[in-house]
Amino acid sequence: MPSPAVPDRPVRAAFVGLGRIYDLNRLAYRGNPDVEVVALVDPSEDRRLERQADWPDAATFESVDRLAAAGLEFDAVEALLPIAHHAEGVSELLGNGWHVNLQKPICNDLDEAVGMAAAAGASGRHLRVMENYVFYEPLRRLKQVVDSGEIGEVVGYHLKMVASGRGGWNVPGGTYDRQFAQAQRGRGTLLFDDGWHKLSTALWLFGPVREVRAWIGNTEVIPGIGVDAPTTLVWEHSNGVRGVWDITLAVDMFLRSDYYTNDERWEVTGRHGFARVNRCTARGLQEPSLEVYRDGELRSHHALDDDWASSFRDSGRHWLRFLRTGEGPLLWGADQALDVLRLALAAYASNESGGIGIDPASLV
Ligand SMILES: NC(=O)c1ccc[n+]([C@@H]2O[C@H](COP(=O)([O-])OP(=O)(O)OC[C@H]3O[C@@H](n4cnc5c(N)ncnc54)[C@H](O)[C@@H]3O)[C@@H](O)[C@H]2O)c1
Repeated sequence: MPSPAVPDRPVRAAFVGLGRIYDLNRLAYRGNPDVEVVALVDPSEDRRLERQADWPDAATFESVDRLAAAGLEFDAVEALLPIAHHAEGVSELLGNGWHVNLQKPICNDLDEAVGMAAAAGASGRHLRVMENYVFYEPLRRLKQVVDSGEIGEVVGYHLKMVASGRGGWNVPGGTYDRQFAQAQRGRGTLLFDDGWHKLSTALWLFGPVREVRAWIGNTEVIPGIGVDAPTTLVWEHSNGVRGVWDITLAVDMFLRSDYYTNDERWEVTGRHGFARVNRCTARGLQEPSLEVYRDGELRSHHALDDDWASSFRDSGRHWLRFLRTGEGPLLWGADQALDVLRLALAAYASNESGGIGIDPASLV
């Protein structure tokens, strides 16, 4: 176990980026004796004013430069920056001597990501690329069921993701603009941005992937702006297990959700039965969030904490505990994030080559 970064007092932390997802990331910090929030950074004055209501004693800054110049003593940053700013932003944060809890995806390109991991290593600071899905209780229980052998040897699995255009929380226009700019760079909202989580869960459940094949579609939603669906990925893990993931866009479908409108499913089939997580971000299927079938009997889990926001709370608390005690693993560290990025980029390479199989490890 590494020695703790902040053993003898609460972690002093700053939020950098106060946009949409701040609303969920703050849950780990609220009422948590492991942390004290000392600064808030965002170029938008409205955002700073709005978010300061949560932390009246925190200082606010319009940029990281201003924060660094202020000479505040603190340990760690919760980095909630637009994806296009991740590479540059993280090297600046590490360079100032702060530990960084970064949102996914690590960044857009492999050379940038390798540079970020190296910068973290050289700085002696921790870089985490937080993966809240592996803290979602129904998925954690799915993994326990699979690992326990309850459904028998795994023979295959599939993931389903339907993005819908109706329901859920309000997403500000500026957030969408940044997502569409990403899509225009060839890093689509469904496969690369939200899809990052699904690729993460695949690696977390079944280990490295040795081959991925992809067929990536595009649907124009407003003139000149496309969403990367319909898309289908298939892959094979090094242990021989195959996964299939279908990404669909159903623009007019209403989904009940407190967050984004995304209907998600994970279903793992074993030689004796199957285990299925019925939802995650949205509340499409009002059924138990986990069901396990074996030998003619279906067991339903009705009392799991299946509020998607809880996965942010628990992921953030895990990070702050890690800084206080050294108890890992980081879930994810920079190396695991590099594996997720390689898998996503291998899918793009496959699509560009007409769907041939690509080994993610061949991307260097
Ligand atoms: N884990 C998840 O499920 C999940 C969900 C949504 C978003 N995210 C990730 O969270 C990050 C932020 O997403 P969001 O939806 O909140 O985006 P957003 O566009 O709503 O917010 C980004 C904020 O960063 C601010 N900003 C821009 N440049 C800055 C800079 N240099 N310094 C400080 N602040 C700056 C913007 O003013 C804005 O308030 C992205 O990496 C995204 O991929 C993760």
